[in-house]
Amino acid sequence: MTLTESETQGFLNRCVSCAYLKETGDFCNKTVLGDSFEAAAALPDECADLLIADPPYNMTKTFGKQEFARMSEEDYRAFTEKWVRAYRHTLKKTASVYVCCDWKSGIVIAPVLEKYFTVRNRITWQREKGRGAAANWKNGMEDIWFLTVSDKYVFNLGAVRQRKKVIAPYTEDGNPKDWFVLDGVKYRDTCPSNFWDDITVPYWSMRENTPHPTQKPEKLLAKLILASSNKGDLVLDPFGGSGSTAVTAKKLGRDYLSVEKAEEYCALTECRLLRAESDASVQGMEDGIFYARGLK
Ligand SMILES: C[S@@+](CC[C@H](N)C(=O)[O-])C[C@H]1O[C@@H](n2cnc3c(N)ncnc32)[C@H](O)[C@@H]1O
Repeated sequence: MTLTESETQGFLNRCVSCAYLKETGDFCNKTVLGDSFEAAAALPDECADLLIADPPYNMTKTFGKQEFARMSEEDYRAFTEKWVRAYRHTLKKTASVYVCCDWKSGIVIAPVLEKYFTVRNRITWQREKGRGAAANWKNGMEDIWFLTVSDKYVFNLGAVRQRKKVIAPYTEDGNPKDWFVLDGVKYRDTCPSNFWDDITVPYWSMRENTPHPTQKPEKLLAKLILASSNKGDLVLDPFGGSGSTAVTAKKLGRDYLSVEKAEEYCALTECRLLRAESDASVQGMEDGIFYARGLK
């Protein structure tokens, strides 16, 4: 997906500013073009049911016209603490939070998250694509911390079942035990674990692909959103990028708020949101069933 200058301008006109949030109190289903910390201050208390944060990992990377420069571990810890504290007031008592990181930034992030939330789990996503290193193992994993504000939280296990081919089909009294046959192949719909190997990065050939350098796949966000929110809930993303969280939330019948400071990514978000009105499909997922890579 690439946008011309005039298309970008058209989509930018659909975004709102932090000042708009503050003046109107209208924050539902919006893409905010602005600074995440300013947006947090303009939001009311306890408005969000689910927060999904994919902050810049602690590596030098260009987002739009701005570079995020690698920091010392101490500065990255302070940056993490700053955004967590800024957004904490927006979370309902029943809210869940997911925070993305790689193994290195995760070491710094985890103790900060532990201070403010109950840590429920760490999901590892095997994304397969990664740059080789001359004197190290190629990094093919990302982590996602699963946190809650309290012990009362939503978890819709039945909405995130994973369909797998059965390796050892067990029978009881001659009947299949928890498996079924489709087109001659034996499958089982299983409970998802915290190791996710069924999701690719949004490759250039996929409809959801954008020029954003660290775009998350909609299938990954669909798992988080379906498990940890209900229809009509508000899903908040303070580092929205190309809008993957907002777009997937919309496709799944949730409300969204996406904050991003780079114009080109806000425009992509709005373009994707518009597309989602006529196509609510999420590649690799159908009716709460997630298919292994290559199955769909
Ligand atoms: C890792 S990317 C998120 C990618 C996103 N999950 C997606 O699927 O496209 C982090 C984003 O945060 C944005 N960002 C960093 N600091 C910000 C700030 N203070 N306010 C708003 N956006 C910020 C960057 O421009 C970048 O697009």
